[in-house]
Amino acid sequence: MQDHVLLVTGGASGIGLAVVEAALAEGWRIAIMDLPGPGLEAARNRFDAAAVRCTGIDVSDESAVVAEIAAIEGEFGPLRGAVNSAGIGRDTAVLATTAEQFRRILDINVVGSFVVAREAARAMRGRDGAIVNISSVSGMKGNEGRAAYGASKAAVITMSQVMAVEFATLGVRVNVVAPGPIETPMVRETHTAEAREGWMQVVPMRRYGTPEEIASATLFLVDSSKSGFITGQTLSVDGGFTVAGLASGTSLAVNSEGFDPTRAH
Ligand SMILES: NC(=O)c1ccc[n+]([C@@H]2O[C@H](COP(=O)([O-])OP(=O)(O)OC[C@H]3O[C@@H](n4cnc5c(N)ncnc54)[C@H](O)[C@@H]3O)[C@@H](O)[C@H]2O)c1
Repeated sequence: MQDHVLLVTGGASGIGLAVVEAALAEGWRIAIMDLPGPGLEAARNRFDAAAVRCTGIDVSDESAVVAEIAAIEGEFGPLRGAVNSAGIGRDTAVLATTAEQFRRILDINVVGSFVVAREAARAMRGRDGAIVNISSVSGMKGNEGRAAYGASKAAVITMSQVMAVEFATLGVRVNVVAPGPIETPMVRETHTAEAREGWMQVVPMRRYGTPEEIASATLFLVDSSKSGFITGQTLSVDGGFTVAGLASGTSLAVNSEGFDPTRAH
């Protein structure tokens, strides 16, 4: 096991939990920050406390985050990476979204990620550290029902670009992973059968991704031996959703029938 610690917010569920498992397999020690509750307790029971520290914290609570990162550094080990996966989402029509709901989403998804990244960067200065913020394809496209969520995830991308520039000479890289639809507890709660059908029509690979697929892209961006000159970038892991234009199965079938790979086209 390495000395260095990877902080994972939202590490008790879904994508964050998959990052924790993949990082443990690579020899990292992990500090999870997640809301107090059954998810965090399950993580605490599941993992060896010497390898995984689990702390109940709301990432939008600035003083709690500041204190916990200081405690990780003092009691657990030096931070070398941070993944901001804690987040909330809710599909609500613009006309039905209150300012309070909008602010709550911004507070957790943007301000929470901001405070964690800022404190992690302070701790990791000069250590060849890396931060990965989990955004969403909804931060890049106008997905219905996602005014607040999409705005929060777009903000995560811009914030990460600014951090990448400001931290570049501190030896801290900052990148973003933007998942498409991924089978996690959040999605099982929020995607109706109709929403699932809608996604199937617009994701060229015609499936949901897995948390493990997001975890491996995230760990690539954390690992400076693999991505040491990459900073400020957003990697969409979305089965082709963000690059798709016209994706009609019929016209593709016609074209590929006439395709001869041995001839120059
Ligand atoms: N699942 C998807 O399809 C999808 C797609 C794009 C982006 N994302 C993003 O990926 C991230 C993880 O989502 P997921 O699908 O794994 O969701 P999830 O609900 O399974 O996990 C999110 C975790 O964050 C924690 N969390 C929520 N609010 C918190 C707070 N205030 N403080 C600390 N922890 C908090 C939750 O307790 C939970 O353990 C989120 O940022 C989400 O927006 C998910």
